Amino acid sequence: MTNIAIMGLGVVGGAVYDALEKNAGIYKRLCGGIKVKYILDKRDFSGSEFASRVVNDISVILKDKSVKVVAETMGGDRPAFDFSLACINAGKSVVTSNKLVVEKHGAELERAARKNGVSYLYEASVGGGIPIIRTLRDTLAVNSVTEINGILNGTTNYILEKMETEGSSYETALKEAQALGYAERDPSADIEGLDAARKICILASCAFSGKYRMEDCAEIRGITNVTAQSVAEAKAKGLKIKLVGTAKLTDNGALLCVRPCAVRQANLLHSVSGVFNCICVKGDLVGETAYYGHGAGGSATASAVVSDIVEAASVRPLPRPASAKKAVCKQKKAAETVTLGGEEYELI
Ligand code: HSE
Repeated sequence: MTNIAIMGLGVVGGAVYDALEKNAGIYKRLCGGIKVKYILDKRDFSGSEFASRVVNDISVILKDKSVKVVAETMGGDRPAFDFSLACINAGKSVVTSNKLVVEKHGAELERAARKNGVSYLYEASVGGGIPIIRTLRDTLAVNSVTEINGILNGTTNYILEKMETEGSSYETALKEAQALGYAERDPSADIEGLDAARKICILASCAFSGKYRMEDCAEIRGITNVTAQSVAEAKAKGLKIKLVGTAKLTDNGALLCVRPCAVRQANLLHSVSGVFNCICVKGDLVGETAYYGHGAGGSATASAVVSDIVEAASVRPLPRPASAKKAVCKQKKAAETVTLGGEEYELI
């Protein structure tokens, strides 16, 4: 039995707790069982079934040597990063759904994990429940991955679809996405493409050599300028406007970008609807592959978090360190474009 702590009992943390209760028998078979010993949260949970396990001081978890794995589902930069680093330095593996921390501090946290002989795992940081991180680092690692294209943000995909199919206003669709628990605490990270940019950086760091950060992106453009008219004009031409993240190896280095594109029917991304994400990966040996599933929401994201908890509890070998060498290309080649609602969109 592995004792764990959950830091942050929000949409994802709560779903992780529920999954560990619901599928306890499965985890017993996979890794001998998982027990939630502590829940770190500032809120008052007195009267709830887990009140006795709630602590609001991280040092309780740090001092308890019986806690081997900590799930960080707090979100945000600090204190999530400081708490994660402290846990790793205290000899505990950390698993997370926090893409902001992975993109910004992942290299430092992975270094600390290697030094302390523990794991820092982040399957849930990209694509919700889609098993993409382990796929890139494991199964596809025998390939030279040349290109990744994906719909990486459920909130914007949900909004664009509602605008297209129901003629919803941008504001109404955003409110719905927030009510469903898809949007970030500050939804401007979704709308302005920052969330998708963090995710494409994480994917590029798993697929190519080097650690890629937001500042390496050649372009980060969200959906704030996508008008109802552009969406309608796209529809009339058999196209769909989608927010697409791309990471591509060029002769001048890795080209990373996020921008709304006009997607042709023949493109797999055309049929990705609602909160679903889809990540298309091209490898030199395997050719084109695609990974599809719920990109946001508690239960799907919990599936990825719990898979990392089980991996950390099973003490598998640590992944190889990413090479420090990287080359970044910030010059996008002129692409085929289409004008919709007076705006120019890349046609893919
Ligand atoms: N706000 C994110 C999204 C949550 O909409 O995709 C999952 O990372």
